[in-house]
Amino acid sequence: MTVAVRIADGAGDAAFVKALGRECSMSSVASFRPATESKVRTAFDRLYEIVHDQSHVTLIADRGGERVGFLLLLDGLADEVTLEPQAFVAYMAVKPDSRREGVGAALLAAAEDEARRRLLPYIALMVTEENQGARRLYARAGYRTERRLLCKPL
Ligand SMILES: CC(C)(COP(=O)(O)OP(=O)(O)OC[C@H]1O[C@@H](n2cnc3c(N)ncnc32)[C@H](O)[C@@H]1OP(=O)(O)O)[C@@H](O)C(=O)NCCC(=O)NCCS
Repeated sequence: MTVAVRIADGAGDAAFVKALGRECSMSSVASFRPATESKVRTAFDRLYEIVHDQSHVTLIADRGGERVGFLLLLDGLADEVTLEPQAFVAYMAVKPDSRREGVGAALLAAAEDEARRRLLPYIALMVTEENQGARRLYARAGYRTERRLLCKPL
């Protein structure tokens, strides 16, 4: 079945993004900085609000008439080091039963198209070191490590 990616529209899409984002949020937690699921879900709610307070586009992936994934893309947030304009993937997720079927790659490609359409010269994102699946997806799509976020348990 083919995947179609479109721009989100309406309350049904928003509810899907919130529910799937909360469900998947633990995959961004590093094992050496454990956190309760409830706090991590609240952190996703906060991220969702932050994204919606800024210029952004929400992409929805549909397959067989069902929503299977989403991507939140900021399009007005310059890189903090260079002040170069960029697109920034704030979060993306695919339903667990639809993974490894190209949905994530299709969402990422659509986000890049949106960024190019806005003449943004870069697309960036953050990913947790231990999130091997996501890291492989990004590496295969041509993303390179630019900076590292370091943390030391005290
Ligand atoms: C990361 C995520 C979005 C990938 O979505 P997906 O639809 O499964 O990705 P794709 O099927 O397009 O994968 C494309 C390629 O990425 C790599 N990849 C994706 N998931 C992988 C995994 N779990 N393990 C190893 N490689 C993986 C593979 O190379 C894959 O190609 P292949 O299946 O032909 O080998 C999905 O696993 C997810 O929603 N995870 C939870 C939320 C999350 O971690 N989001 C990212 C936050 S930064």
